[in-house]
Amino acid sequence: MSAESSMVVRDGSGAFFDRIAPRYDLLNRIISLGVDQRWRRRAVRALSLPGEGRALDLATGTADLAIRIARAHPEASVVGVDPSSGMLDIGRGKIAAAALADRVTLAQGDAQALPFEDGSFDGTTIAFGIRNVPDRGAALREMARVTRPGGRVVVLELSEPRGGLLGPLARFHIHAVVPRLGALLSGAREYHYLQRSIAAFPSPADFAALCEESGLEVREVIPLTFGVACLHVAEPKKGGGA
Ligand SMILES: C[S@@+](CC[C@H](N)C(=O)[O-])C[C@H]1O[C@@H](n2cnc3c(N)ncnc32)[C@H](O)[C@@H]1O
Repeated sequence: MSAESSMVVRDGSGAFFDRIAPRYDLLNRIISLGVDQRWRRRAVRALSLPGEGRALDLATGTADLAIRIARAHPEASVVGVDPSSGMLDIGRGKIAAAALADRVTLAQGDAQALPFEDGSFDGTTIAFGIRNVPDRGAALREMARVTRPGGRVVVLELSEPRGGLLGPLARFHIHAVVPRLGALLSGAREYHYLQRSIAAFPSPADFAALCEESGLEVREVIPLTFGVACLHVAEPKKGGGA
């Protein structure tokens, strides 16, 4: 067995995403029934980036959110960071096709340890990525550190729909439809990780508490589409108090 094939591909890790990168965008559109792009638009609005602002998009993957930020703010620049070179390669192709290479740059890296100065960004985002980071508190502390005082930190993440009339339908979609569709379309049996990781992710209230413990002041918690996704909008605490 080669060293590469014996390497453990942890579900949700950069290596896992390397394997599904070519099919990732299509999977997203199908699994979310097309609403994922609407959620990203909502995240861009919540970021409230100033005109010539500099944004950081963590777990940027194939750069959907980084591209959306740049399109919504024609004077802004965006840096996207992700450990998966496979996802970044696809993202670079999309950035070139959108003629945004002068304003959107991608780099390989880990949200838990960022190579940026304190306060060097006007706003920081992470979409469908914090669930995959082993030490979420470390990533949130890094987001608080690299965002300037008064800048926004926006976390978009899937969540387990709990109550409401359509909650059972949304739960059925996540527990029964998503893993099967994901396995079928990605060819990766591990796509079951998605449903498992959503179920294991903290509730919006518990995640807000983790943000507060990690040096962020939570301004808004916005449930999206019957609670299938949730947007946490925060700012770094004054005095950097994690
Ligand atoms: C579900 S994708 C989300 C991609 C993109 N943000 C989007 O909106 O489609 C999750 C991403 O998290 C990345 N990831 C996994 N571990 C990470 C880490 N420690 N730091 C940053 N990103 C990570 C994966 O490589 C993958 O690209």
